Amino acid sequence: MSTDFLPLMGTDYVELYVGNAKQAAHFYKTAFGFQSYAYSGPETGDKEKVSYVLIQNKVRLVLTTPLHPTGTIAEHVNKHGDGVKAVALMVNDAADAFAQTVKRGAKPYMEPTTREDADGKIVMSGIHIYGDTVHLFIERKDYKGTFMPGFKVWESHYNPADVGLQYIDHCVGNVGWNQMNTWVSFYEDVMGFKNILTFDDKQISTEYSALMSKVMSNGNGFVKFPINEPAKGKKKSQVEEYLDFYKDAGVQHIAIATQDIITTVTALSERGVEFLKVPNTYYDQLLDRIGPIDEDLEPLRKLGILVDRDDEGYLLQIFTKPVEDRPTLFFEIIQRKGAKSFGAGNFKALFEALEREQELRGNL
Ligand code: FE2
Repeated sequence: MSTDFLPLMGTDYVELYVGNAKQAAHFYKTAFGFQSYAYSGPETGDKEKVSYVLIQNKVRLVLTTPLHPTGTIAEHVNKHGDGVKAVALMVNDAADAFAQTVKRGAKPYMEPTTREDADGKIVMSGIHIYGDTVHLFIERKDYKGTFMPGFKVWESHYNPADVGLQYIDHCVGNVGWNQMNTWVSFYEDVMGFKNILTFDDKQISTEYSALMSKVMSNGNGFVKFPINEPAKGKKKSQVEEYLDFYKDAGVQHIAIATQDIITTVTALSERGVEFLKVPNTYYDQLLDRIGPIDEDLEPLRKLGILVDRDDEGYLLQIFTKPVEDRPTLFFEIIQRKGAKSFGAGNFKALFEALEREQELRGNL
């Protein structure tokens, strides 16, 4: 077996560029149960931008807003609206991750850079992926402080309880027409990932619209990136609607794992998070379709949680509506009970639910 030239220990954080990080941070605390963690801005010596770092178990979200109308962050927010700029990956050696990927054709975004303070040092580097999105490689083995140098502990008197979100299960990218295989090759050739699952437009279609998807995974399976592209249907695909509003390829959804989806989704719902709902008939033959499960059917039906089974077990999942005004980024909440797949059995019911929303927006 060949050795992994890009060993990844998981997702370090996801950074969103947003119009108003202070308010977005409040939303992610109140609605999603994230905890105040770190802050950088003028008070810590950064006159150009502010960043709030939120944490929930192993999930770290960074929300960044520019303080002035010019520059790459302001341009990003203007073009895309709120959206994911960076999917940061945990590595042992950020300089080597940069060298290995750039040698294989990655476009450099950030040369290896060391940031130091009294608590140690962080090395980071980065490469471009689809659209304006980037991967950062974060080496934090020599750092004992909060998040990274340049940040201070963010203390708040407002600390709503978490909702049991544990870690990032996968991050899905939407790319343009005929671009899926280009990015599949990128993840194979440049990052050393493998294509572990493929869905064609026959498997992911409704009466009106279709898409294609390939799931890319790194060697140890800690990092998984499905990639979608639109496919021809009678009407506009949800991926096309995303591209129309995000104005480019980008991250479509972030799936976060929980160990108890009923408790997590009950809490999210009470806090105002809006979920896509499938018709109630979905539950009528559910147990015939997927076999016995540990959960009671009633709370699943009430909350709109979907279930799917593969050879190794089953999974429970639910999708939020977009979390900004543009129909772009949304979240998935997932609980895996053995299954390593992505809920292909739910695609049709789910995409019909999505299309009803798309139609309400006049974009179908
Ligand atoms: Fe997903």
